[in-house]
Amino acid sequence: MLDKTKRGWWKSAVFYQIYPKSFQDSDGDGIGDIPGIISRLDYLEKLGIDGIWLSPVYASPQADNGYDISDYEAIWPPFGSMADMERLIAEAKQRGISIIMDLVLNHTSDEHVWFREALKGRDNPYHDYYIWRDGAPDTPPNDMLATFGGPAWEYVPALGQWYYHQFAVKQPDLNWENPTVRRALYDMIRFWVGKGVEGFRLDVIDNIGKEPDRKITCRGPRLHEYIRELSREAFAGEGLVTVGEAWSADVEEARLYSDPSGRELSMVFQFEHNFADCRPGGSKWDLAPLDLPRLKRCMERWQKGLSGQGWNSLFWDNHDLPRIVSRWGDEGRYRVESAKMLAAALHGMQGTPYIYQGEEIGMTNIRLPIGEYEDIETRNFYRERIEAGIPEVEAMASVYARSRDNARTPMQWSGAKNAGFTAGTPWFTVNPNYTGINVEAALADPGSVFYFYQKLIALRKTCPVFRDGDFTLLDPDSEAVFAYTRKTAEEELLVVCNFTGEAVPYPLPAGFEGGELLIANYPAPETGTLRPWECFMLWRGPRK
Ligand code: GLC
Repeated sequence: MLDKTKRGWWKSAVFYQIYPKSFQDSDGDGIGDIPGIISRLDYLEKLGIDGIWLSPVYASPQADNGYDISDYEAIWPPFGSMADMERLIAEAKQRGISIIMDLVLNHTSDEHVWFREALKGRDNPYHDYYIWRDGAPDTPPNDMLATFGGPAWEYVPALGQWYYHQFAVKQPDLNWENPTVRRALYDMIRFWVGKGVEGFRLDVIDNIGKEPDRKITCRGPRLHEYIRELSREAFAGEGLVTVGEAWSADVEEARLYSDPSGRELSMVFQFEHNFADCRPGGSKWDLAPLDLPRLKRCMERWQKGLSGQGWNSLFWDNHDLPRIVSRWGDEGRYRVESAKMLAAALHGMQGTPYIYQGEEIGMTNIRLPIGEYEDIETRNFYRERIEAGIPEVEAMASVYARSRDNARTPMQWSGAKNAGFTAGTPWFTVNPNYTGINVEAALADPGSVFYFYQKLIALRKTCPVFRDGDFTLLDPDSEAVFAYTRKTAEEELLVVCNFTGEAVPYPLPAGFEGGELLIANYPAPETGTLRPWECFMLWRGPRK
């Protein structure tokens, strides 16, 4: 168990993300819930994780699955009660697992009492909690677009004003320029710290300093001033782990977010590597084959750029991304090998790894008829592309590859009905491959993806080189192999990953011949060749 009284303990930690709606239902209503999570804590303890990033469990009309909060200090009833939440925090802590809550500070739901009050009139004390501009009904203040499609402005006839929403219409943005808003948010955070929560994941935190009149959404001029105030006023002195989701961050800016002095956040959660299979200049929906050299260069830039100067999160999957084994691995014949290879490639690097529920058993993407997708972003994307004249097959190819719903199918616990997720009717389709891919099967097979993750997590705790080692990318131009070393004064680690389903020649780099094999996805490495999706880690250093 990690000693969490140590400053920076989270640098040796591995976190696990739970998307509560799809994790485990306990009462048969088809929706995952907090008692369901509690019932799976032993499983998570067995995996070896140190903390859970819990996607939002707050009261919410669920327009964006809980990222639209109507009461920050209440639990959405289908998820359970505040007493359940308190029990989760306590029971997790007993197992050495910290609860890291998702914190949506950029916007609320339009059903939050603040917004309801704000609608009552320009003089209402809550009116200035949100971002309003005067204007005529048919002329929005400008042409800014919402992330989930359509204009970012919504007109309220009774007020003769437009409000700004970066995401859905039902997610009005909070006005961070108003100090009363900031104070209210800090008070809410203290409420949760008082409940024993040990950290927060800050949703789209790069949006809070926006200046809509200048069409600035991310990286506004006051962004870091706000984050420093937030850190001082709400987080300081508690040893909390704070994770800033920032789609817009580059390496330089990430150094500000995760400055080792601790004046902002513990770590940044950025996405640059996620675009290695997107058409340059396009969005995440614009598909391209994985450009491995581009991915490697990107990783190298971040590894070197933050070393000693900041801290990064390591992840392939989350609730907004497709399943990595379907994306950059092989979800068919080599599912197990490629899922392990992808895990090794990521977990050998510097940063704090995040495992998204189901990743540890190699869960895959899903394909549904368009009408069965639940995600607001997917539905809006599809409608807009079709309206723009894009052929149906092309739009659907993007949906299959990139829809957020790929990650949101219920967790596959067993081969029983509904994958053991619920005794009722699941809120969202269970991937039919659950009969083969499930936790019960994984636990029964010593060669499963689960045990590979378990071992990677344990290695991070035993060899300091995982936390501290300097990163060197080997053979940057290889289109098949991702290999790198990590080095401290005492230890050296070599990570070798074949990103293809073909055998490729691979001479071992000099100096590693007698290295200790820490982990591999084939029984033992062969000399001179990597087998399809093969990976291994060799280590040299003083005996552990
Ligand atoms: C973040 C969340 C995503 C949500 C959005 C708006 O990107 O991860 O799920 O839709 O913010 O809150």
